[in-house]
Amino acid sequence: MPPPPGDADVFMPVLAHAAKHRSEQQRERPGKTRACAPHRYKNSHARRSGGNSSVKCDGRLCHNPAHDLPNSAYVVRDLAHVWHPCTQMKDHEQLPLIPIRRGRGAWLEDYSGQRYLDAISSWWVNLFGHANARINAAVREQLEELEQVILAGFTHEPVIALSEALSALAPAGLTRCFYADNGSSAVEVAVKMSFHYWRNVGRTAKRRFITLSNSYHGETLGALAVGDVDLYKEIYRPLLMEVITVPSPDCFARAPGESWAEHSRRKFAHMEAALAQHAHEACAVIVEPLVQCAGGMRMYDPVYLTLLREACDRHQVHLIADEIAVGFGRTGTCSPASRPASAPTSCACPRD
Ligand SMILES: Cc1ncc(COP(=O)(O)O)c(C=O)c1O
Repeated sequence: MPPPPGDADVFMPVLAHAAKHRSEQQRERPGKTRACAPHRYKNSHARRSGGNSSVKCDGRLCHNPAHDLPNSAYVVRDLAHVWHPCTQMKDHEQLPLIPIRRGRGAWLEDYSGQRYLDAISSWWVNLFGHANARINAAVREQLEELEQVILAGFTHEPVIALSEALSALAPAGLTRCFYADNGSSAVEVAVKMSFHYWRNVGRTAKRRFITLSNSYHGETLGALAVGDVDLYKEIYRPLLMEVITVPSPDCFARAPGESWAEHSRRKFAHMEAALAQHAHEACAVIVEPLVQCAGGMRMYDPVYLTLLREACDRHQVHLIADEIAVGFGRTGTCSPASRPASAPTSCACPRD
């Protein structure tokens, strides 16, 4: 997110040295003396802890807002120890990071009190916003009771209740839940499950996957392999399984005067041909239902999913709906692939 013009703090060059920080501290907190300087933390904590001078506070893991360091100090600490995802770190020598102290609803706030409208919902909080009170209370309550127990050989009421609720929401026929750590892992699980199924029924020639051009399914090696965004994939290609890539039905590219449905139907001919040619060796087709998000929010008509469901059945190929980015109401329905005519064989659900 580009910083708003005029905010001297976020435009500050990121690799500033300590002397510069001191003058920025004064500028960011006009009227205040350097109450947050590390030696002050030490003193104030030492006082509150009965003069024990071994107790120090330099802002690390400290939730007292009065102890916040200036934004610039967090930037320097970050750059010394953090590599950010999907990022060329060199860029941050020119484009400063924005340190965020807290979030509420649609708003983020940095360490100087500057607020930002989180117009991209930090990708994953568009449904409920930041620090949703009901969700946080439920998480807190659960943490007090049981923080985790291995799910192999054990079970508990919350996982049963969640699985019952998800099964009730899921497309017909999807009655079991398997939990993974994140979106990429969920895609890995779906891919492995499909392969494993065909192996169990003796169809061992089925080892390949069909995907759409410009699709994105995550960063782990299997998920990267079934995606098609070169920016993420190109360098790792020698490590990845080969997939069958079919032109995307992306309606941005439709001909003048052509409707979304007409375009998606026309594009489906490529999928039909791929299925006819590769069904004997294909485990599954994997798609992002309706919107190819990381590929540039490219959308297609629901008729494509209906045609795909029918063709996958006819050719005996699984259909994996990767709903990591579009599930739980983000495209209107709870599961965009859950219309009766297009229900997938397996479904990767988002984390919210
Ligand atoms: C469609 C889709 N699938 C999978 C993933 C990977 O999810 P994660 O980042 O949790 O591994 C993403 C992430 O953006 C995604 O958009």
